[in-house]
Amino acid sequence: MRTNAAPKVTVHTLAKMKAEHRKISMLTAYDASFARLIDQAGVDIILVGDSLGMVVQGGGNTLPVTMEEMIYHCRSVVRGTERAQVVGDMPFMSYQASLEDGIRNAGRLVKEGGVEAVKLEGGADYADLAARLVKIGIPVMGHIGLTPQSLHAMGGFKVQGRSQAQAKRLLDDARALEQAGCYSIVLEGIPRELAKEITAAISVPTIGIGAGVDCDGQVLVIYDLLGMNEEFRPKFVKRYDNLAVRIRTAVEEYITEVRTSAFPDEEHSFSREVPRPESATPYGSIRAAAGAGGGPERDPDASGAACIPFPRKT
Ligand code: KIV
Repeated sequence: MRTNAAPKVTVHTLAKMKAEHRKISMLTAYDASFARLIDQAGVDIILVGDSLGMVVQGGGNTLPVTMEEMIYHCRSVVRGTERAQVVGDMPFMSYQASLEDGIRNAGRLVKEGGVEAVKLEGGADYADLAARLVKIGIPVMGHIGLTPQSLHAMGGFKVQGRSQAQAKRLLDDARALEQAGCYSIVLEGIPRELAKEITAAISVPTIGIGAGVDCDGQVLVIYDLLGMNEEFRPKFVKRYDNLAVRIRTAVEEYITEVRTSAFPDEEHSFSREVPRPESATPYGSIRAAAGAGGGPERDPDASGAACIPFPRKT
């Protein structure tokens, strides 16, 4: 677990990591609770991905996700994050229609969502927009290869860059984005040999997903890493846990205990009796578990504590 003194990850940290051949870890998060845990574990970048359209909203693709939804989730993630760089995804049609749209909406993700960088899908066609954003002071992460917002044009979620012509286009795209000032580029769903070639050809870090081990870093959707969806088993996802089973088991146990009146027991109930000393009250133990200074001031004698204080940012 990181210490409170750990410095914030910035574009400079990530450039240095590539120069020193230190791998970059990136994960998605969509709310403060997951962001806090992922950040405490020491991940370098947290992406508020438009994948939330699928894993949070239950949609079949990312296309319906709106700017308002992205801003809402970005704010939540920023509140839960201290060390990692937080990147906000530009949702479909927030930047494709005009340069002005892209500038205004990237600005909203930074200004209203509180993120430190934005990510946008697309190659050389979006180099002008990336350059304008960088000039304004908004760091831009590119995203090429299997770009889910172009799902219909690609004919599905298919590996890109297998033909020589496609591979050359992707290499040109990566160079154009680097030239435009992007500080890193996500390479999604491309052959590992091509990802290696692109990573060697550009000076900024590449972050791979389904792009092999030779990228400068890796990204996964947190729900996939944790095994939250048993039906979703793409080749590039490694499950580090099986939370689908563990969550269901915990909930089944709760349901059984509710039905049999085993919960709540004495330990989890309040009574009219005078409360025990502060350190032994439910409120005291909650405060200790949540960390010092975390919550609203309360009367230590008030045994009616009902909330777990969440470390709050202004
Ligand atoms: O939306 C997302 O989560 C992403 C990552 C998978 C790269 O774009």
